[in-house]
Amino acid sequence: MEIRVATAEDAIYADALCQWYIASAKQRGTGIAKREPAYVSQKMASGDGIIAFVDGELAGFCYIETFDDKSFVVNSGLVVNVDIRKHGVGRAIKQAVFNLSRTKYPQAKIFGITTSLAVMKINTDLGYEPVTFSELTQSEDFWKGCKSCKNYGILMENERKMCLCTGMLFEAADKLVQVQVPDFAALGAPAAPVAHDHASDPETDSAS
Ligand SMILES: CC(C)(COP(=O)(O)OP(=O)(O)OC[C@H]1O[C@@H](n2cnc3c(N)ncnc32)[C@H](O)[C@@H]1OP(=O)(O)O)[C@@H](O)C(=O)NCCC(=O)NCCS
Repeated sequence: MEIRVATAEDAIYADALCQWYIASAKQRGTGIAKREPAYVSQKMASGDGIIAFVDGELAGFCYIETFDDKSFVVNSGLVVNVDIRKHGVGRAIKQAVFNLSRTKYPQAKIFGITTSLAVMKINTDLGYEPVTFSELTQSEDFWKGCKSCKNYGILMENERKMCLCTGMLFEAADKLVQVQVPDFAALGAPAAPVAHDHASDPETDSAS
């Protein structure tokens, strides 16, 4: 399998990928998530897509979308050629697009909403956790993507707080660690520090 960041030259595959999106949405009965070949080509040209080939044939694709000033990232449009599913291609693409997202947008929260058990498994292994939709982007641009789903009415009835999809979120692990400094005075520590040789001892410094 060849797996790499897509480029503008891969636009020749955009039509086929959009056909796969239509076919898989029909098969899942979720309604068609509208993706035009021009949009897919644009993702390829901007270096926001991962494309895979098996034996030189197109095998799958996934791309990055950003919301809320790039503070939220979604790995969207994961699709694998129907003839070669369940052989690890989807997992490999998702891992690659996840790595690309972490590299390009290291501070962003990465999230997704899905009804796919395969995607839930892969996301869980990548470190995503299930969350309510309140933890996800509130960007209209993201939620309008649900309009073509047959469950859109359910989403709106629930004021966009829940639907049939599971929300999943990965929060960057390299967040600043908040160190709690104990309040020594409140604990009855002596008012003046006892003199000792290690003037730069950080614990002693923070107590004074
Ligand atoms: C979802 C999809 C991308 C998965 O691709 P894939 O190459 O078949 O996935 P993998 O072979 O890497 O499988 C990953 C895991 O999901 C599991 N899995 C795959 N298909 C599954 C299915 N239909 N039901 C349940 N589990 C499934 C695999 O067993 C594997 O789990 P494991 O490693 O614990 O055994 C592919 O089925 C597809 O293109 N579907 C249509 C588009 C789609 O639904 N996209 C997701 C939109 S959110």
